[in-house]
Amino acid sequence: MKNNNQEVLVHVEHLKKYFSVRKRGTLKAVDGVSFDIYKGETLGLVGESGCGKTTCGRTVIGLYPATDGTIEYDGKDVTKIGNEEQKWFKKRVQMIFQDPYASLDPRMTVGDIIAEGMDNFGLYTEPKERQARINELLSLVGLNKEHASRFPHEFSGGQRQRIGIARALAVDPEFIVCDEPISALDVSIQAQVVNLLIKLQNELGLTYLFIAHDLSMVKHISDRVGVMYMGQMVELATSEELYSNPQHPYTQALLSAIPIPDPEIERTKTVLPLEGEVGSPINCGSGCRFASRCKYATEECSKVTPELKEIKEGHFAACHLF
Ligand SMILES: Nc1ncnc2c1ncn2[C@@H]1O[C@H](COP(=O)(O)OP(=O)(O)O)[C@@H](O)[C@H]1O
Ligand SMILES: [Mg+2]
Repeated sequence: MKNNNQEVLVHVEHLKKYFSVRKRGTLKAVDGVSFDIYKGETLGLVGESGCGKTTCGRTVIGLYPATDGTIEYDGKDVTKIGNEEQKWFKKRVQMIFQDPYASLDPRMTVGDIIAEGMDNFGLYTEPKERQARINELLSLVGLNKEHASRFPHEFSGGQRQRIGIARALAVDPEFIVCDEPISALDVSIQAQVVNLLIKLQNELGLTYLFIAHDLSMVKHISDRVGVMYMGQMVELATSEELYSNPQHPYTQALLSAIPIPDPEIERTKTVLPLEGEVGSPINCGSGCRFASRCKYATEECSKVTPELKEIKEGHFAACHLF
């Protein structure tokens, strides 16, 4: 954490991912999102459920083809590369999934689950080597080698997420999309898994896109945080700046809903409730998508989509107020 490297690993520009929904039109899950991720940093990505975080993460690492836009990985536009280079890319990027119950095949042993990527990429020559790597990965995530022959149902949620992390690490990736990796876990073990991810990042020099649905979870792990609303990025800044000086009315509302550990501040703070409903991302037109819920909205807001602009060094917001 607290990464000072300014070398860009992932450059995303005007990324769009649309789904066609039968008889209903086009669902704009990600609609023109731009951001950079620096080598060795954690970029947090937050926003309410359905705002497009998972779709964004999956599209960036090539699990979904992009509808439009550019994704550069280490200087290479990965939306335009051929099969050989796709293989190169797929080995460098991995994903940790939200639900550690659904994401592990119940019929496979833990060892086989972890080794799947190694099997696919042919990363060993002898079975002995494969087993040694499985053992190494198990110990890296705080499990032990006896666990390799067991099945996922024998493990707790936290342990399963450790298995999912070991699986992601097996191919020795550089960049990992962590898709709400702790949302499905008991509060008591969430911190353990976050601390494991931080430890692994420091030891292995990993770069993370860390997705969460609320701001309290990402603060601890992220160098910078982006806030999404209905398929668009509405604010992006360093964690400190975003938490101490939120500018977009949506970010302010999200932050005011987080409990503050200091009882005195908590008692006296003003909560800006989010009013109205999230609109539908299907066939939505122009204008700011947050306008219907924003108390500052003007006529311009319902007509013109605000661009993400740098309002202060390193602090970006998409809002007509600035
Ligand atoms: N494979 C898909 N087909 C059609 N619609 C999808 C698909 N995946 C996601 N969506 C829709 O895209 C929007 C964004 O979803 P998602 O990226 O999962 O949001 P989040 O991760 O922020 O909760 C939602 O409206 C969701 O219903
Ligand atoms: Mg999601």
